[in-house]
Amino acid sequence: MQATTLHIAFDIDQVRRHFPILNRQVKEKPLVYFDNAATTQKPIEVIDALTDYYKFYNANIHRGIHSLAEEATAAYEATRDTVQQFINAKHREEIIFTKGVTESINLVAYTWARTNLKAGDEILISGMEHHSNIVPWQLIGEITGAKLKVIPVDDNGELIMEEFYKLLNEKTKLVSVVHASNSLGTINPVKEIIDAAHEIGAIVLIDGAQSTVHLDIDVQELNCDFFAISSHKVYGPTGVGVLYGKKELLEAMPPFMGGGEMIKDVSFEKTTWNDLPYKFEAGTPNIADTVALKAAIDFVERIGKMQIRQHEDDLLQYATSQLESIEGIRMIGKAKQKVSVASFVVEGVHPQDLGILLDNQGVAVRTGHHCTQPLMNRFGIPGTTRASFAMYNTKDEIDVMIEGLNKAIKLLK
Ligand SMILES: Cc1ncc(COP(=O)(O)O)c(C=O)c1O
Repeated sequence: MQATTLHIAFDIDQVRRHFPILNRQVKEKPLVYFDNAATTQKPIEVIDALTDYYKFYNANIHRGIHSLAEEATAAYEATRDTVQQFINAKHREEIIFTKGVTESINLVAYTWARTNLKAGDEILISGMEHHSNIVPWQLIGEITGAKLKVIPVDDNGELIMEEFYKLLNEKTKLVSVVHASNSLGTINPVKEIIDAAHEIGAIVLIDGAQSTVHLDIDVQELNCDFFAISSHKVYGPTGVGVLYGKKELLEAMPPFMGGGEMIKDVSFEKTTWNDLPYKFEAGTPNIADTVALKAAIDFVERIGKMQIRQHEDDLLQYATSQLESIEGIRMIGKAKQKVSVASFVVEGVHPQDLGILLDNQGVAVRTGHHCTQPLMNRFGIPGTTRASFAMYNTKDEIDVMIEGLNKAIKLLK
């Protein structure tokens, strides 16, 4: 008997119709948007959710008793329920809204790490981290005396797990690694890392900026202590992110920022903190964008993550084989398990020049170090050209990029 599926067949034309921006032209050419790892485009459902909030029920949340305030509060809190279910968190209070992954990581750094680390302790990260999973730990290292250790990366762009096991020791108090690399696409063996770290009593933060949109995330199954999510990389608005944290850890942590909403009682002598999750949501939050994040997740779930992944895997395979057929191109990042990121360098050609010439063809790619300078240094390059694919991209668009690349390389060499 065939397994039943909740989703209808993946229809790329139908999917594309949800994204108004795909109708526009750039430099008089149809837009080919391959900068999805930087930020994804937004479906009309998300844009509508955003404007509906301002058109129909704009109000501050939690404190008001009037109808608009109640509607806005209900919509904001509904996103929390949706995120909880999306990543299978045990409790809704474990979902903290932030500005993005950067703020989520900084929240853990300035609360958990600042109060729990001391000189001699070690923070273990990997050689493929985004700057937002490096710099906060350096800053916390300066305050606490904790040292940063780095899991090296091999020539294929995979973590050298033997080295990970060598680096992990009783001084390691926190392991913070990226689930999927934004520069290489590598999917890291985070379950193995989490289990090994827990064996020696360390806690683990997973940077889910790039994985949440492509992979099924189950924080209970992963058993990670913290998981950071960025809305704008999951077809949602900018300015919103999520920090998932295990309830007992969040409860023991001091607040991140002080102000309204995060308090229970304030007097000049003593202030007490609000319950989770509000203890970590000081001030008026980004209500409209948080409300619209629900529309983004609902949209992804309606299309079906498995179908999206299959489509993106096809695109990645096709793009990789087409790129490899161009003389002088070197792929950076050849891991066995990858999300849909194709990074490459062309011998004797600066990535920025390639990016400009591709833009003239209407093709948006990212060039540079992708906020992973230490990783670029590891490969001995200043940066790459990166094409990253989303649910709405097509093989025809990849053909446009390949044609543009061939033209650009001829011009530049
Ligand atoms: C792997 C990774 N981590 C962190 C970030 C920062 O995320 P945000 O823009 O939500 O602060 C990014 C954004 O590019 C990323 O790709």
